[in-house]
Order: sequence, then C-alpha cells, then structure tokens
Amino acid sequence: MQAAGLPLAGLTAWQGLVDIADVRPGQRVLVHAAAGGVGHLAVQIAKARGAYVIGTASVGKHNLLHDLGVDEAVDYRTEPFEKAVEPVDVVLDPVGGDVAVRSLEVLEPHGRLITLSAVLPPAVAAAAAERGLRATGMLVEPDGAGLSELARLADQRRLRVLVAETFPLERASHAHRAGELGRTAGKLVLTV
Ligand SMILES: NC(=O)c1ccc[n+]([C@@H]2O[C@H](COP(=O)([O-])OP(=O)(O)OC[C@H]3O[C@@H](n4cnc5c(N)ncnc54)[C@H](OP(=O)(O)O)[C@@H]3O)[C@@H](O)[C@H]2O)c1
Repeated sequence: MQAAGLPLAGLTAWQGLVDIADVRPGQRVLVHAAAGGVGHLAVQIAKARGAYVIGTASVGKHNLLHDLGVDEAVDYRTEPFEKAVEPVDVVLDPVGGDVAVRSLEVLEPHGRLITLSAVLPPAVAAAAAERGLRATGMLVEPDGAGLSELARLADQRRLRVLVAETFPLERASHAHRAGELGRTAGKLVLTV
C-alpha cells in the first residue's frame, strides 16, 4: 500500500528538491502543505539531505509534521507564513496561487521557489523578475534513477509514505472527491 503512494508524489518532491534546487546540508527549506501527498515526502527528503525544514499546515497537523521531522511547523491559517518564517534558501510550493507569490517574500536573494505547476504562472514569473529571484514551475517526469533513490531512503527507514485512506477502484470517484477537498494528510490510494 505504501509503495503505491510513493512514485508520483515522491518523484515530484525529489525532482523539485534534489534535481532542480540541489538542496544541501544546512540549507533552510520551506515546504508548503507539508502534511499533503507531496509535502509529507518533501519534508522527509529535505531532512535526509541535511536541511533545516519548515512546514506549513493547520495546527491540528503539527504533531504529524514534527513526527515527519520538521524543525518548525507554521500554522498558515492563524498568521501569514511570510511573517512567521525567517529567510529560506528553497521553497517547495504545492499550493500555488498567491502562496507562490507570497513565498518570494521569504526567499534569500540567491534562493529558489519551486511551484508545482507545469508552466510558471505569469503572476509568479513577474513577481520573481521584479525581485530578481529564481522561480521555477515543474512537471514530474518518469525517472528510474530517482525512484531508486526513493527506494533506498525507504529501505533505510528515512522515508515513509502515510496512507490517509484507501478506496477500491470502483470508488475512484470518491477518492477524487476526497482529494479535491485539499485536506488530506498523506496519500489516497486505490486498491485493485
Ligand atoms: N507539477 C507536478 O509535477 C505535480 C506533481 C504532483 C502533484 N502536483 C499538484 O500539487 C498539488 C498538491 O498535491 P498533493 O497531492 O500534495 O496535495 P494534497 O495531498 O491534496 O494536499 C493536502 C494538504 O494541503 C494542505 N493545504 C491546503 N491549503 C494549504 C495552504 N494554503 N497552505 C498550506 N497547506 C495547505 C492541507 O493542510 P491543512 O488541512 O492543514 O490545511 C492538506 O494537508 C496538486 O494541485 C497536484 O495536482 C503537481
């Protein structure tokens, strides 16, 4: 079940944090939606790379974030995250919209924003250009080498997949509806 939840979300986090941002030990990484499908894996990957990790989630998910290894959990609902977070080297943003634009406010001058949109939204590109910051959209790609790295981390117990809920294939529409609510902690998995 856990293995089913790993490839797409795991490769997304890996390609953003490792292939694009090249996160290094000691760097500060902000992961938005840190309890979500991509986010909970991104937190663990950034920690495995030796980063200091800050995650955003509503307060009810902060214990989970600490279990995953975050150094700081920020409740984005009670305070704008850009007020609560000291400058970071990398932001991984699965949320998009104004969260992507506002994330530029917490980036170091050399920092990089990665937002999970195949094409970088024009508003984000313009705001980044105005500030002289790097912002990148991305679309996850098939990647055998990346999958091997994820499997290695999982074997070492440094990466685990949280399965929020399973649905039989014939109830896939229910899984979609649950996903669209955007409140999931971990991954939704279909069983065949
Ligand atoms: N471009 C690509 O290659 C790629 C690949 C994979 C996924 N994606 C996209 O990435 C997005 C995220 O996917 P996912 O599966 O990781 O999402 P998800 O599991 O549905 O995310 C749910 C989480 O988002 C949190 N959340 C919602 N609004 C938030 C906000 N404003 N700030 C911080 N956290 C917030 C929720 O936390 P609370 O309940 O605490 O609010 C919840 O834990 C989707 O749009 C998906 O299509 C893109």
